[in-house]
Amino acid sequence: MINVALPKGRLGEKVYNMFAKSGYECPSILENNRKLIFENERTGVRFFWVKPSDVSIYVERGAADIGVCGKDILLEYEPDVYEMLDLNIGKCRMAVAGKKSFHDDNVSTLRVATKFANIARKYYASKCRDIDVIKLNGSIELAPILDLSDVIVDIVETGTTLKENDLEVVETIVPISARLIVNKASFKFKTKEIENIAKELKAQVESND
Ligand code: PRP
Repeated sequence: MINVALPKGRLGEKVYNMFAKSGYECPSILENNRKLIFENERTGVRFFWVKPSDVSIYVERGAADIGVCGKDILLEYEPDVYEMLDLNIGKCRMAVAGKKSFHDDNVSTLRVATKFANIARKYYASKCRDIDVIKLNGSIELAPILDLSDVIVDIVETGTTLKENDLEVVETIVPISARLIVNKASFKFKTKEIENIAKELKAQVESND
C-alpha cells in the first residue's frame, strides 16, 4: 500500500481528483462523512485527510509515503522530504502587506505579524532589516489595522481579504503552489510505485498547461 496524506479542504479535493484521473480512484472518499482514511485494495493506495499544515509532518516521519502540501509549508517548516513535483494548483503568493499609508522608514524595528515566522525572518534577514515577529494563528489582516504590527507576511490568493480590509501588497516574497512530497525511506523501498504515481500526475499537470 502507498499511504497518501491529502490536505483537508478545497485543495485536497482537487488533488484527489488528479489522483482519481491518474487511475488511483477511491470513490468512498467522496461520501460526505467524517471518516479520515480511505483505501482501494485494487489500486494499492490508501488516502487520509490531514490538516494542510500537518501534511509534511506525516510524510517526514513516514506515517505517509507521499503527500501534497503548499510550498508555503515547505518553506516554513523545511521538512526533510523529497519535493518531487509542482502540481501547478493551489496557486497564490507569499507577500508583505500593510495599510495603504504604510511607508518603511528602514530605521525602527519593523513589527511583522504572521503565521510564517521562519519565512518572514529569512526574508528580512536577506534584506538586513531588523524585525520583531509577532506570531499569530489566523486573521492576520487584523494586526496592522489595530496597530499590533506595521505589516503582515501572509498568503494572498485573490487579494479580496486585503482589499476588504483596506490593506495592500507591499512586496511579493515568493509564488506558492501545491507540491507532491515524498518520504525519503519510502522512496527507496517503494520507488516504482511512487515514480508511477508521480509520472501520471506529471502528465496531467502538463496536459493542463
Ligand atoms: C488565507 C490567508 C488570507 C486569505 C487570502 O487565510 O491567510 O487571510 O486566505 O486569500 P484571498 O487573497 O483570496 O482573500 P485563511 O482563509 O487560510 O484563514 P486564516 O489565515 O485567517 O486562518
